[in-house]
Formats: sequence, C-alpha cells, structure tokens
Amino acid sequence: MAENVHLIDHPLVAHLQTELRSNDTGTWRFREIAERLGELLAYEALRDAPRQAHTVSTPMEPYTGAQLVGPVTVVPILRAGIGPAAGMARLIPGAQVGHLGMFRDEKSLKPVSYYVKLPADIAQGVALLIDPMLATGGSASAAVHVLKQRGCTDIRFTCLVAAPEGIDRLSADHPDVPITACAIDRQLNEKGYILPGLGDAGDRIFGTVE
Ligand code: PRP
Ligand code: URA
Repeated sequence: MAENVHLIDHPLVAHLQTELRSNDTGTWRFREIAERLGELLAYEALRDAPRQAHTVSTPMEPYTGAQLVGPVTVVPILRAGIGPAAGMARLIPGAQVGHLGMFRDEKSLKPVSYYVKLPADIAQGVALLIDPMLATGGSASAAVHVLKQRGCTDIRFTCLVAAPEGIDRLSADHPDVPITACAIDRQLNEKGYILPGLGDAGDRIFGTVE
C-alpha cells in the first residue's frame, strides 16, 4: 500500500463498516454507523495532529498535559459527507465545520461544484476532508484543489470506502494529502460505483431514492 494511504485495521471498524453495507441496515442505523465511523476516522487521521503543552490546575497540584493546536476544520463533501462529519465534529474539541457542495455528473462522472462555505482561518490548521465514498476520485481531488486555493497546507482526506481507482487518482493529483479509509474495495463498475461498496451513500444516509 502506498505510503500516503492508511487503512484502519480494527475489529470495531471492520464490524461497523460491514453492518453499514448490509441491505438490512436502514436509513436511521446507516446514519448512526456513519457518525460512529466518522469519530473513528477522526481519531486515526489526527494521530499526528499538532499539539502543545497545556497546564491545568487540579485538586492536587498543577498538571501539564497537552492541547490540540487549532483550528481543526472538518470539511464534509455534500451531501453524503454530512453523515460522518457529525461524528467527527463531536469528537474533536473546538472543531469548526466548512462545507463543500459537490455532486458527480451521472454521465461524465465529473464533479460539479455548487457550494463553498469555509471558515476564514481554515488555512491556519488541519483541514479534515470527509466523504463516505472515494470512487473515481474526481470529487475528492476537486475538493482538495478548493482547499489549496484557500491556502490550506495540512489537508487530510478521510472516507468510509475507497476504490483503488480513486486512491490512485487522488494520490497522483495530490501526493501530499494522506488518505485514511475504513475499507479499500475491489474496483469500480461501469457506472463508477464501488464494488462491493454499499450503493449510493447519499441516498442511504438520507433515505432518498434517485
Ligand atoms: C458521491 C460521494 C462522493 C462522490 C464519489 O456523491 O459522496 O462525493 O459520489 O465519487 P467520485 O470519487 O467518482 O467523484 P454524489 O455525487 O452521489 O452526491 P451526493 O453526496 O449529493 O449524493
Ligand atoms: N458514490 C456513491 O455514493 N457510491 C459509489 O459506489 C460511488 C460513488
């Protein structure tokens, strides 16, 4: 596996991402699992996040521990990224949230950008991108491009399920961006869907049917 790719190998993640895919998992439970996996992705992707010494007074004596050096900005790619982003933002102390609206044109499979709203100071800290699916990699690559245009230098991409094609594309376009995934699947089908995958992540998170 390429150096910039980190596949989380953990029984909790294995259990949850398997349950997520199942046809027996309905919208409510799908959202819940996506949030939980978002927490675990944040935990892994921020393993080497900048921290600084921080002293607190305690009932016994002063204690010098650590504090995250902010800002840490969670950036979901709309709309499906909203699910796991909720878990990420809950886990990260002081997290702020930016939004990138992007959908994939069904014929060309190219990303179409429709919304950008980012905190003004996002470039001063870690930008944690989250999208459940890394398929062709077009949406992820375009999202990283937007963040770089805003001056971000510490961008980390996270996803629930990645296809090898998407990993190759994102790594080629942005070799400086680490990728953390809960699962790496076999391949894309002719419509650009991940196999085995889980179907349409946005539809499953929000209960919509295209
Ligand atoms: C899905 C997914 C990614 C994109 C991945 O979004 O959430 O953003 O497709 O595909 P790619 O790697 O080939 O670009 P979709 O376009 O279905 O939009 P939605 O989240 O609004 O449902
Ligand atoms: N988007 C999805 O929601 N699922 C896929 O398998 C590929 C792109």
